[in-house]
Amino acid sequence: MKVLLLGKNGQVGWELQRSLSVVGELVALDRHSTDHCGDLSQLDGLRDTVRTLRPDLIVNAAAHTAVDKAESEPELAQRINALAPGVLAEEAARLGALLVHYSTDYVFDGGGSRPWLESDTTGPLSVYGSSKLAGEHAIAASGCSHLILRTSWVYGARGGNFAKTMLRLAAERERLTVIDDQWGAPTSAELLADVTAHAARSTLLHPERAGLYHCAAAGETTWNGYARCVLAHAQSRGRTLKAGPEQVEKVPTSGFPTPARRPHNSRLDCTKLQTTFRLRLPPWQQGVARMLDEIL
Ligand SMILES: NC(=O)c1ccc[n+]([C@@H]2O[C@H](COP(=O)([O-])OP(=O)(O)OC[C@H]3O[C@@H](n4cnc5c(N)ncnc54)[C@H](OP(=O)(O)O)[C@@H]3O)[C@@H](O)[C@H]2O)c1
Repeated sequence: MKVLLLGKNGQVGWELQRSLSVVGELVALDRHSTDHCGDLSQLDGLRDTVRTLRPDLIVNAAAHTAVDKAESEPELAQRINALAPGVLAEEAARLGALLVHYSTDYVFDGGGSRPWLESDTTGPLSVYGSSKLAGEHAIAASGCSHLILRTSWVYGARGGNFAKTMLRLAAERERLTVIDDQWGAPTSAELLADVTAHAARSTLLHPERAGLYHCAAAGETTWNGYARCVLAHAQSRGRTLKAGPEQVEKVPTSGFPTPARRPHNSRLDCTKLQTTFRLRLPPWQQGVARMLDEIL
């Protein structure tokens, strides 16, 4: 079994290098790879890579994820998030390979408070969301066997993340203001990588399991609730902070204007994934606590 991973140094890509290593012989690329083209903006090079390597499984963790920047570079976002997955899908179809790809809660308009189902109507608010939705459509149109995992609020222990920013600010300031009207579930890159390895193996054995799935940690919170959880956990581990959880003030999204609009409701109903693959998605606090124990 040959596995091709694209975007190996992103949050999810980094964890996939670990989880996919037991699935098969892994070739992991990023945009700077020299042996084979791993740059998703080079569509011909990307096609050549798949044709040369002839993988059984392609996992695409690369994406244009700079949500605000995408508003001012829509063509690049479209190329990386929609055209490149389309090329991977066409080549997967030719080879009979399985393609695993990630999408986002940003394909929805964020209305209401019910967790979104895979069958719900989409309505992206941003260039990023539209380009990711176009990527989903390109994959579906190719006819290749695929798993598309829509996820939300991804964090990894490696590199910068929201929790690290909150810890730094809470050490410097006596009060923080954090948005309290966007709802979702912080989801660890580790969890996504583990689910990917499990679901991919299962789908290779049972091709009828291919399709679109929601995949996020269980439970829900706001960015404000997430920040409070982080600071409470840090204090319980003896970290001295100027601002504790009680000093995290609630502000609406309108208090932090950004180029891209973000959905208020990012809750994802993950029942289909858990039932099909017999998985249990843990509460979001579990992954956050583990990540904090790693970085504190
Ligand atoms: N982060 C979230 O909150 C979130 C939420 C929902 C869904 N998702 C989806 O989950 C997947 C993984 O996201 P992530 O959180 O791991 O994102 P990430 O940490 O930003 O990683 C994305 C990776 O893609 C790479 N990349 C960007 N442009 C590229 C190009 N032209 N060619 C090759 N690689 C390129 C980046 O490389 P550089 O570092 O060199 O730019 C980076 O390593 C993506 O599909 C994303 O849309 C993420």
